[in-house]
Amino acid sequence: MVNGPLRLGVNVDHIATLRNARGGVHPDPVRGALIAAEAGADGITAHLREDRRHIRDADIRRLKDEVPLPLNFEMAVTDEMVRIALETAPHAACLVPEKRTEVTTEGGLDVMGVAGLPDAVARLTDAGIRVSLFIDPEPSQVEAAHKVGAPVVEIHTGSYCDAAPAARAHEFARIAAAAKTAAALGIECHAGHGLTFDTVTPVAAIPTIMELNIGHFLVGESIALGFAGAIREMKRLMVAARA
Ligand code: PXP
Repeated sequence: MVNGPLRLGVNVDHIATLRNARGGVHPDPVRGALIAAEAGADGITAHLREDRRHIRDADIRRLKDEVPLPLNFEMAVTDEMVRIALETAPHAACLVPEKRTEVTTEGGLDVMGVAGLPDAVARLTDAGIRVSLFIDPEPSQVEAAHKVGAPVVEIHTGSYCDAAPAARAHEFARIAAAAKTAAALGIECHAGHGLTFDTVTPVAAIPTIMELNIGHFLVGESIALGFAGAIREMKRLMVAARA
């Protein structure tokens, strides 16, 4: 497996979560994606969930049309999502398990246990969309992804990120082992979920991991890195109004 520069895919779902909390149009995930592009992101990821709790159909169309970065369309393995992916023609599609009751994607796909998955991989691949399968860090799941013809796996880093300090090394070793299996099989390896400034470094140092997809932390951390600027601008406008 060829090593190369590590790409950052910025997940903009939670900009839409914040927008939807008020029901209006602000903040706009497309504007967030454009800021991400300027800041050096290599791609944009968005998950159109079945319940449309954050990203909506129109966001996906605009992310594809208005943002000059490859779009990674995160999707459940359903006929509806395969249809939307084929209509949108994103650069990549990341297939994930989806439960209506979950707060976030809780675990990876059981690749052999998902009805219709090989067919979805084939249809998306035939349309020129690069398919990745979001899996737990288990070599058996990487092997299953290889069997169904997926060119990419994305390893779920949530257990590692959430682990107590004493368990973190064990969880990290699982990610490293899965990445090794992917490299041996010639599958491109991505990783993501729950990554923060504190947890990213060891994962980013695995040389065969080609892409990290990160969202929630970046949106949250923009309060620390950007809240003050927004407040200063509001104060400036208020002072200017009275000048
Ligand atoms: N990759 C996949 C497949 C995901 O489902 C998610 C969460 O939507 C992420 C990466 C990003 O996770 P986080 O928002 O915790 O950074």
